[in-house]
Amino acid sequence: MSTDRSKGWAEESVSATQPGWVLPSENPHSSGETSLGAARQEEFGKPAPRPPQLPPLKPSANHTVCVEESAVRLGKVVPVQTANAAEFWKSDYVKMPFSNHSRQTRPTYFMHRVEVSRWMIIKAALNKDRFETSKDLENAIKEYNQKYAHLWRFSGLHKHFDQLSDGERQYLLGTLLPGMAKLALQLPKLCSKPIPLLKQSKAHAITMSQEQIACLLANAFFCTFPHRNSTQPNSEYRSFPDINFSRLFANFSQRMSEKLKTIFCYFSKVTENMPKGLVTFQRCCLNDSVVWRRSPCKLTQLRVSSEGRIEEEEQGELQVDFASPMVGGGVLGSGLVQEEIRFLINPELIVARLFTEKLADNECLVITGAQRYSEYGGYSDSYRWLRYHNDETPRDSWLRLCTEIVAIDALNFRNPMDQYKICYLDRELNKAYCGFSTVDRVVLARHRPAIATGNWGCGAFKGDAKLKALIQLMAAAQAQRDVVYFTFGDTALMRSISEMHQVLQRSNVTVGQLYNVLAKYSRTALGVSMGSDLYEFIRSNVACPKGRI
Ligand code: APR
Repeated sequence: MSTDRSKGWAEESVSATQPGWVLPSENPHSSGETSLGAARQEEFGKPAPRPPQLPPLKPSANHTVCVEESAVRLGKVVPVQTANAAEFWKSDYVKMPFSNHSRQTRPTYFMHRVEVSRWMIIKAALNKDRFETSKDLENAIKEYNQKYAHLWRFSGLHKHFDQLSDGERQYLLGTLLPGMAKLALQLPKLCSKPIPLLKQSKAHAITMSQEQIACLLANAFFCTFPHRNSTQPNSEYRSFPDINFSRLFANFSQRMSEKLKTIFCYFSKVTENMPKGLVTFQRCCLNDSVVWRRSPCKLTQLRVSSEGRIEEEEQGELQVDFASPMVGGGVLGSGLVQEEIRFLINPELIVARLFTEKLADNECLVITGAQRYSEYGGYSDSYRWLRYHNDETPRDSWLRLCTEIVAIDALNFRNPMDQYKICYLDRELNKAYCGFSTVDRVVLARHRPAIATGNWGCGAFKGDAKLKALIQLMAAAQAQRDVVYFTFGDTALMRSISEMHQVLQRSNVTVGQLYNVLAKYSRTALGVSMGSDLYEFIRSNVACPKGRI
């Protein structure tokens, strides 16, 4: 009996007593199983045995490359130098704090005020060998955010510093923060190519270096980005997530403190030893919705596990981010569930908030190459930063880690009954399919690795996990990809989904036939009550030649 975890799959000879693996032929009701379904690599989407060989990296009409692609071919990362400074203040690009348009008035003699470059003020405020106290940091940030100086509070930040040991505090004030400030002030040199905004309906990709991302995130930490602080409904960036970290500093809580520890772990690593890779952010739009009731696709392979977490899945899987339409959700606020945790432990994801407009119903964001820097424990209120995580994921020929994350936002059902309505079923199917399909990718993946997902839309967004599991299985079938599903500790749900999947596969139903059964359920459930169990209803509506499971 051997289990080669390095491949991530149990070998054929594994017995059912092997914890975590049960072959389909085994009795799924035996106690102790924590994983059901296909258990071998060849039964699943073929995770790439090695990083896929990609076409040469080069810019195009729908792909902005912020580094010299010729250098990438030599394994080097060199920022693109461009002189078109005008684009640093255009409405289709990220407004940079070093642009001449970013200005602030300063008092002069005789009560006069004069407009000066905000970047000059930022350099003067951040160019320090050390910060004496966290109040020093607050004053520096307020220097170039005078419009918000009276509104922003930093009590959370101060209390976080107060609870640190002297050694930790001195490291932050005397080493890390000055290092982050130095990194932030390299913005004009490192990000000299304007960054386009990924606006709605704009299927576009941006590839940038991890160093450029670190520099942008350091600026976000020090709240230097202009025009990104207003919360007015008519403000210029009302349809974009916030990016400046000011909200994070306001109120103290254990959550906020653990978030800061995770973020400081990232900055500590990148200021000590800057990673030398690239990351691609791609906004994808599903322009042709699927006619689900006519889909001939058959369900693909499924492994369901009650143990484990999506981010710990094998490299090569497409990992789902249970997103907010404002990617990152409450990561810079109080939110701390699946998406926020992912954005904290892979902090390069946070920079997507700088340029990604609110996702529309037919859109998703795919991020390839985001590195993991932290280990954590707990969840939500019990989330705790544990330690640095050494991410050894292999890199592809674009120098990106082979970690592909897709942000898809489920609907937030205030009335749970709504989720059974066909119009919402269609929306969730199309959203998941947009995320799972390889249409419109800058690199059309020849292999289609499995999708690592779970209770998408079934936590904060209160969805029915059994329904959402089926929706994702249908979308994955349409995208011809297998599924690894994590029930996050719910063994009953693991069994239900696994058994339902087996009934559907043995009944040889198509996605279209299943869709029509769901449509029938929708009429029935909405007619009477939600009482009739969805999976029972499906069983009684699909013929299973080998009898009931
Ligand atoms: N791996 C696998 N499953 C997980 C993981 C994980 N790392 N973390 C959580 N889960 C499971 C839990 O069962 C959780 O209840 O996924 C469920 C849904 O997680 P949520 O984050 O609540 O997702 P959702 O209901 O889609 O709400 C999305 O929450 O995080 C914010 O910004 C996000 O606003 C968005 C909303």
